[in-house]
Amino acid sequence: MCRVHRASVLTLAAEHYETEQLEEWVVSLEPDHIRMAIADRKEVGFVVERDGRVVGFALCDGDLVRALYVHPAAARQGLGTLLLEALENEAAARGVARLRLYASVNSRCFYEANGYRVLRAGDYPLSGVEMMTCLEMEKDVPNPGG
Ligand SMILES: CC(C)(COP(=O)(O)OP(=O)(O)OC[C@H]1O[C@@H](n2cnc3c(N)ncnc32)[C@H](O)[C@@H]1OP(=O)(O)O)[C@@H](O)C(=O)NCCC(=O)NCCS
Repeated sequence: MCRVHRASVLTLAAEHYETEQLEEWVVSLEPDHIRMAIADRKEVGFVVERDGRVVGFALCDGDLVRALYVHPAAARQGLGTLLLEALENEAAARGVARLRLYASVNSRCFYEANGYRVLRAGDYPLSGVEMMTCLEMEKDVPNPGG
């Protein structure tokens, strides 16, 4: 997952952020973060594997989509949408009516294509001294009962 995160950030977001921002973004998800998320069972996660290797993953904490990353070699093949739909369905089954997230600038079109609307733009802190511009977005998730 960390391999996918690094490659995804450094390739797919590279045009939209400065090198220093990308470097801090990359270290914001380290193996210990993922181990903790798995161990405390607070977050819900999905991964997509191909040939035994993770090529994409998504994490959700309550009503907040915390992470969604697809390896650049697997981008634009519908995997991001598949992962997002898995989070939405799982959240709806838990009774969550609306999901929210902080989208990187590069991912705005992806989330809009998936029905999310922009609430506001803002600068959000990374793991060190850098800030990064993100878009706060939300979507009403379909009720599983119809
Ligand atoms: C955002 C991300 C998860 C999308 O994953 P993906 O598997 O490539 O997305 P999909 O193939 O499901 O794309 C679905 C639709 O979203 C839109 N879309 C996706 N990427 C896009 C891009 N770079 N530019 C414009 N539209 C895009 C398109 O409408 C696309 O449909 P199409 O391919 O038929 O035109 C992936 O680009 C990524 O990992 N980016 C870097 C990390 C990141 O920014 N994550 C979000 C953190 S908030």
